[in-house]
Amino acid sequence: MEKKLYYLPVYYDTAFSYDITGELNFFIACFEAYADIEVSRILEPACGSGRLLLPLAERGYHVLGYDISEEMVAYTRDKIAQVGLNGRAEVVLGDMRTREFKETFDAALNLLNTIGYLLSDADILRHFKAVSRSLRRGGIYIVELACAPAHPRTQEQPEDTWTAERDGVTVQTTWHTERYDYARKRKYNICKMHVMDGIQKKQFMFIEPHILRLWFAEDVKRLSAAGGFVLKAIYNQGFDRIPLDAPLNGELGNLYFVLKKE
Ligand SMILES: C[S@@+](CC[C@H](N)C(=O)[O-])C[C@H]1O[C@@H](n2cnc3c(N)ncnc32)[C@H](O)[C@@H]1O
Repeated sequence: MEKKLYYLPVYYDTAFSYDITGELNFFIACFEAYADIEVSRILEPACGSGRLLLPLAERGYHVLGYDISEEMVAYTRDKIAQVGLNGRAEVVLGDMRTREFKETFDAALNLLNTIGYLLSDADILRHFKAVSRSLRRGGIYIVELACAPAHPRTQEQPEDTWTAERDGVTVQTTWHTERYDYARKRKYNICKMHVMDGIQKKQFMFIEPHILRLWFAEDVKRLSAAGGFVLKAIYNQGFDRIPLDAPLNGELGNLYFVLKKE
């Protein structure tokens, strides 16, 4: 997957450098509420620039992340060393479809619709099985994703644009869904990034397509169950609990699915 967004980690990390304290507290509350075992070792598939990995390690967890992008892995490894978290946080190369670790983790986290890069049922199932085999019994897997909109209005769909600045680097990012394909379960996104790097004295822009799985709640339930998980809870972005049998659609925004290996 040759995506500039994921091969330029410093700019990705700047773009997504918002405060995640509320989300961290929510994950820790979920560990306590849903895991049957004490959570001390956490796996993060597709961990990117370590946005979550490092704060979790700072809170005392042992964390291991993996990512398919060598650049992301090298960048995150450097960050871990710089803040002196070696021994508590680790990052390795890996593909969500295949990477697994033998029953060594108590919890796993997969954020920001990243599981959507797995397009086919077969790949999603391989991933759930790999994570399930990596968790101890009673451990949980929290997956964040958005479901398909009930009423897609691609023409009027507003672009989601934000600007972030850090250490002399300013990044303006835009995500836009161009098209939904309900039959093939695909969502066609465009990512635009305008980078103004005051340190390296350069400016550039790129525009690239990102094709993601178009999720339906029944697919999350069916594939996670086939992969060895039981769906325990669903939460919205405000961390409000949504009934398991509620109709789920994209209008609800990104949702957290709390899955348990029983
Ligand atoms: C939207 S970023 C999310 C990164 C991180 N989870 C976070 O919350 O910031 C998506 C990440 O998934 C990685 N990725 C995409 N497909 C992957 C795959 N098949 N296996 C492992 N990593 C993958 C990309 O390299 C990128 O770092």
